[in-house]
Amino acid sequence: MTRTGLRFRRWAAVAGLMLGPVAVAAGPDGASLYQQKCALCHGKNGVPPPGMAKLGARDFTDAAWQKSKKDEEIRATVEDGKPGTSMLGFKGKLKPAEIGAIVRHLRTFTRAGRVSSVSP
Ligand code: HEC
Repeated sequence: MTRTGLRFRRWAAVAGLMLGPVAVAAGPDGASLYQQKCALCHGKNGVPPPGMAKLGARDFTDAAWQKSKKDEEIRATVEDGKPGTSMLGFKGKLKPAEIGAIVRHLRTFTRAGRVSSVSP
């Protein structure tokens, strides 16, 4: 082992430590995708505006609703949409990993979150 080799190995170890967390955080950002693609109809915090609620959009902060749906069911709705409604399918428009990230974000909506976001 040469001096340079040792120094390189030490550098690589430090670089690895620094890059590790960045690589983990590099997945699709479900929160910002939700704001771009869904918030218009489903509300910034998961509560649909009254007009959209009338068209059938659900309150995602409702714990009973959250419990009643499996991740796969939510995912299927996001992919295929609800025929005959303004809920269009996002298959082909969003990558599978992006849809997964949005579903995970959708799971973070709670009534508590809604209250705290309204009155900071
Ligand atoms: C143009 C308006 C619009 C957009 C944009 C939209 N939705 Fe919807 N969504 C609706 C409406 C209306 C319904 C209710 C359909 C019905 O009558 O069942 C719905 C239903 C749903 C449901 C089913 C709820 C249930 O109880 O089964 C999910 C989940 C959903 N949307 C997620 C999303 C996600 C995630 C996005 C963004 C990727 C999105 N929607 C974008 C209008 C929209």
